[in-house]
Amino acid sequence: MGARDLEQLRVEASTCTACDLYEHATQTVFGEGPGSARVVMIGEQPGDREDVEGRPFVGPAGRVLDDALEDAGIERASVYLTNAVKHFKWTPRGKRRLHQKPNGREIRACRPWWQGELDAIGPEVVVCLGATAAQAVFGLSFRLTQHRGEWQWIGDRRALATIHPSAVLRGEDERDTLFAGLVSDLRLVADLLGSQAPGSG
Ligand code: URA
Repeated sequence: MGARDLEQLRVEASTCTACDLYEHATQTVFGEGPGSARVVMIGEQPGDREDVEGRPFVGPAGRVLDDALEDAGIERASVYLTNAVKHFKWTPRGKRRLHQKPNGREIRACRPWWQGELDAIGPEVVVCLGATAAQAVFGLSFRLTQHRGEWQWIGDRRALATIHPSAVLRGEDERDTLFAGLVSDLRLVADLLGSQAPGSG
């Protein structure tokens, strides 16, 4: 498959029925950001807020990501943000919709979308936010606890996995430490982009 236009991919993904998740989600939440982005960040799946708004990382985890990007010196508007799975998977708990982890079949079914996004954008760096995205991209044997913040390659493209911003929210007493770790991993990305910037070398 050649690199398809992002807009074409978005339209195609909006009617995706490759797994059952579309049945209980409001809509497909496709990636968002510049088609010429130097960095693509891949999260797990849209949350409750993202499902309603149809945009990635606009809920509580998105706010943590915004703060971490700012501290790392990366402009959110320059990043293309997407998810390994493009429909919200949830289970009812009273009036709330509780996030459920996508399974291997759902992650595989969604693979053509993020791969299509990478092909269309051709970023210099891919950042996986959390274990689901990291295993979708690097394979099931990838262990985030062992390899977070280490540079990897996907083909000729640099890639790195770090914790998911929602891990910071769940961190209770450790929030500050977890947030600092997320920022420090994102600084590696900022440094690499700086060192590869036109005229930097
Ligand atoms: N968590 C994710 O992984 N992605 C989103 O878009 C929002 C929360």
